[in-house]
Amino acid sequence: MTELLEGRTAIVTGAGSGVGRATAVLFAREGSRVVCADIDLQHAKETVRIIESDGGVAVAVGSDVSREDEVVGMVDAAVEQFGRLDIVVNNVGIPTPRLGALLEDHTLDDFNRLVAVNLGGVFLGCKHAVLQFKKQGGGGTIVNTGSVAGLVAWGGSVYGATKGGVLQLTRALAVEGAPHQIRVNAVCPAAMPLTGFMSAGGMDASLDAHPDLTDRMAAQHPLGRFITAEDCAEAILYLASDHARNVTGVSLPIDGGYVAR
Ligand SMILES: NC(=O)c1ccc[n+]([C@@H]2O[C@H](COP(=O)([O-])OP(=O)(O)OC[C@H]3O[C@@H](n4cnc5c(N)ncnc54)[C@H](O)[C@@H]3O)[C@@H](O)[C@H]2O)c1
Repeated sequence: MTELLEGRTAIVTGAGSGVGRATAVLFAREGSRVVCADIDLQHAKETVRIIESDGGVAVAVGSDVSREDEVVGMVDAAVEQFGRLDIVVNNVGIPTPRLGALLEDHTLDDFNRLVAVNLGGVFLGCKHAVLQFKKQGGGGTIVNTGSVAGLVAWGGSVYGATKGGVLQLTRALAVEGAPHQIRVNAVCPAAMPLTGFMSAGGMDASLDAHPDLTDRMAAQHPLGRFITAEDCAEAILYLASDHARNVTGVSLPIDGGYVAR
């Protein structure tokens, strides 16, 4: 059977954990060479080990998506290692800094950090992907990780505002990029209890601490299942592949029907 991403080179940011790791592993299984980028280089290297033990090809790069020089370094690494760049998955996002923080609980530093990583990181990843795609010619594909928080009130007002920004950037860049055959889409996950995201937000999300966590999250969704990193990876694969050749500018909820209610 033909692999969906045969011969492609992809960058996945936040590839050291959760959605990024699941996406990098799935992309490699589908024939892509993968640059696994993460601020945590050790975790990115662990993802590369998983891919290599599965027979795939990947390299790890330490890169903070909020720093332009490090994003440029990530794109350069893809081109130096693999000769070209076809797909960029701008997946990094950080949560509201303190669980349950209201808008007025955010300091200006909290606000600036959320914007710099969640929206600024997607801006920089898109900018340097587009520059490379145009330099090479022949188009390219970008998938951004948004959130249901960009569609409805969920997960904090400032966090949600950054994700709303990601979705609008996705739509507008899709139109700008279309004449160059550059497709730009987003996935919008609902709560995923088993990635590192909840603990990054200060919650002990282990099933030991909260044995009913997955059941509680599943109960919020009309389909009655909780969302996994693999659910998102499958959707990102579709949007990055030629199966979505005529799809651009969409924000695809991966939410068991949460925002459709
Ligand atoms: N888990 C959820 O409940 C949930 C819900 C909706 C949307 N999302 C979104 O899904 C995406 C992936 O989240 P996840 O659940 O896999 O989280 P995760 O915490 O498991 O993974 C995030 C990864 O990003 C890396 N990272 C953090 N800051 C970085 C930076 N500045 N530069 C580079 N790498 C950085 C971390 O080291 C980590 O490996 C995020 O955009 C998040 O906003 C998550």
